[in-house]
Amino acid sequence: MNELVIRQPDDWHVHLRDGAMLAAAAPFTARQCARAIVMPNLVPPVTTVADALAYRDRILAAVPAGVSFEPLMTLYLTEQTSVAQLAAAAASPYIHAVKLYPAGATTNSDRGVRDPLSIDPLLAELERSGLPLLVHGEVVDSAVDIFDREAQFIERVLKPLLARFPKLKLVMEHITTKDAVEFVLSQPDNVAATITAHHLLYNRNALLVGGVHPHYYCLPVLKRESHRQALLVAATSGHPKFFMGTDSAPHTQANKESACGCAGAFTAHAALELYAEAFDQVGQLARLEAFTSLNGPRFYGLAPNEARIKLTRRAQAVPLFIPVGESERLIPLRAGETLAWQAQLVP
Ligand code: NCD
Ligand code: ZN
Repeated sequence: MNELVIRQPDDWHVHLRDGAMLAAAAPFTARQCARAIVMPNLVPPVTTVADALAYRDRILAAVPAGVSFEPLMTLYLTEQTSVAQLAAAAASPYIHAVKLYPAGATTNSDRGVRDPLSIDPLLAELERSGLPLLVHGEVVDSAVDIFDREAQFIERVLKPLLARFPKLKLVMEHITTKDAVEFVLSQPDNVAATITAHHLLYNRNALLVGGVHPHYYCLPVLKRESHRQALLVAATSGHPKFFMGTDSAPHTQANKESACGCAGAFTAHAALELYAEAFDQVGQLARLEAFTSLNGPRFYGLAPNEARIKLTRRAQAVPLFIPVGESERLIPLRAGETLAWQAQLVP
């Protein structure tokens, strides 16, 4: 298959940032995706409906003229979040989910929740309203190996949490392990997962073989090949529980290429091309549309997009960098290399 036309995708997990980085990053997401679930881990985080509406306006201002893009806003759950705030979020047509970061788990998560099993009134409200809870699924425990943090989170947090709130709509974000695939499949329809393109294409060798490659450092960290294989099977199965969420997470070159480099891979410049490459690897391009464009809207209770996007098998160079403001740079995944596919909206 050298050409494929599918419904326009949505990105169900993306970091668009703010300020100069927002201006640099948002056009890439808006070029391919009709909608995107926008992560709230700004500094300070987006914790109220008013914050989210103001952020939504800043995002729309960063979308190029003539491009149609709808940011689907999320709130950042803190230990100070009230039941009333969650009820207001559920009532807002602009807020589509609430994000749970275990405190200290990832970039800008220090305002997150120390003990996700201590917020029962908030979880009860989400279960009542049906507003999805998006979970960064890693334990924060110095005794737990970084490669085991997702599997431990399932045992220590997700299983007890879902036992208490079995109807809670929950997305395990950016899953990276066979354990997570099996867990999500074992749950009823209210539990789903997003999978990134980079976790489908790379294992932890990309990060560590031949030197440290900071642009492949993200959280949850890349895992061993057997986990990548399990993710590929899940994503390409057509199963409605699995859908696209790039976790495209831009940081400046200086912040990535540093003695303590930030976690996050920028993939929004080639999101669909990278997913196409992963599906093509296992001969499952026919199932790409379900993953990128159908399963996500169904879970979120939205209609799939009517616009179509065309993928053509044609080599495409990735730029060495993307300018950010006057003097900074963003290094896209595969910088200076090529992509096998090219995506273009059908006019
Ligand atoms: C994300 C970021 O930079 O905001 N980083 C990442 O490695 N994925 C946060 C997150 O989603 O964990
Ligand atoms: Zn993320």
